[in-house]
Amino acid sequence: MIEPIPGFSKLTKQEKIQWLSKTYLAGNTEAENILKQYWNPNAQLQQLHEEFTENTLSNYYLPFGLAPNFLINGNRLAIPMAIEESSVIAAASKAAKFWGKHGGFKAEILGTQKIGQVHFMYNGDKEKLENFFHATKAKLIKAVAPLTRNMEKRGGGVINIELRDKTSLLGSYHQLHCTFETKDSMGANFINSCLERFAETFKAEATTYEAFSSSEKDIEIVMSILSNYVPDCLVRAEVSCPVEDLADHGMTGEDFAAKFVRALRIAEAEPFRAVTHNKGIMNGIDAVVLATGNDFRAVEAGIHAYASKDGRYTSLSHADVRNGHFRFWLEIPLALGTVGGLTGLHPLSKIALEILQKPSAEELMKIVAVAGLAQNFAAVRSLITTGIQQGHMKMHLMNILNQLKASPEEKEQLVSHFKSHNVSHSAVEEQLEKLRN
Ligand code: MEV
Repeated sequence: MIEPIPGFSKLTKQEKIQWLSKTYLAGNTEAENILKQYWNPNAQLQQLHEEFTENTLSNYYLPFGLAPNFLINGNRLAIPMAIEESSVIAAASKAAKFWGKHGGFKAEILGTQKIGQVHFMYNGDKEKLENFFHATKAKLIKAVAPLTRNMEKRGGGVINIELRDKTSLLGSYHQLHCTFETKDSMGANFINSCLERFAETFKAEATTYEAFSSSEKDIEIVMSILSNYVPDCLVRAEVSCPVEDLADHGMTGEDFAAKFVRALRIAEAEPFRAVTHNKGIMNGIDAVVLATGNDFRAVEAGIHAYASKDGRYTSLSHADVRNGHFRFWLEIPLALGTVGGLTGLHPLSKIALEILQKPSAEELMKIVAVAGLAQNFAAVRSLITTGIQQGHMKMHLMNILNQLKASPEEKEQLVSHFKSHNVSHSAVEEQLEKLRN
């Protein structure tokens, strides 16, 4: 059994790699070299990345690409995406091109409120707790004044604090359920700092509240934390066109639209399909969220919770045909920032936001929702026409060629060959062998 290592974080990067190599990689110098190969020769840049987190050994690259030609509310944008999946950027670009010719994407903000909660236990008279809360609410708001001053200058701050009785879920459990407006910042640090100050003040005030008995004075604060479920920080993106514009792969526009809507109904009705359908949406969303230095875990958690908000996991997007007109839309919660966090620190996130013309958080919400809708359109369009593998494998060809260690000349010939042939791992292998013989 491997002994625990004390003080790993205090070791230098070199020492950490040596320990790792000796302990888990059988002294494999190749692995050590690979880790070091990804160090940036610009020492300052390397240090910046190392300081994002703890125990950094190396940098993990993802492709940073661009999907051009997005027409969003009348503005032409190119969307930066950080993603490894071969076909995502091509699919987004294709959908952008198509919808660019059919009125573009429309996006609107439906809300921008974020939520945080102080979770506490109180096992006493409920009416007294209500009275205490009302007597203390103004003090809570006052206690965070030093924290909210700057945010208020930007038009944000604490919107409301509510006392919520959660004892039907768990004995003694109550909450301060707080809503915030954080403008262009994602707001996690702001919200969490306010919540911790609310909690301290609430607990301290309880100890001197005369109407409470001595046990009622002893409120137990369990934790204070923002919620990544933000159903009131919501954006909607939509495309629409006359059905005849959708004629595709030998299908009439009417047939295409009807089959598309049927595919959406299946995703609405059936959770196994809904998860994969929504994964296709997240292909677009995560890629932009990541490229702009936003928290993709928060976004993922919040969006999937929203997909189950009515008690059953379902599709995030919907489509219909009315009076010969096709509509396709989605509504998703998104807590994003364009200032603070990594957005201004990671050089590529900064560039991504510049590419997007320095959007406000609301504008970024619209762009991200559009990227999700475009991706979803492209995926469902492939699924109901050619099947997903044709396009996917074409884009995956380069990965297969790299796996098979094809030379640049071999790659060129095989890319040309597979323009008119179906790509599969075995077909590529076979063709490469033919070429080599
Ligand atoms: C693959 O990354 C995403 C899809 O599976 C999405 C879908 O099935 O709608 C193609």
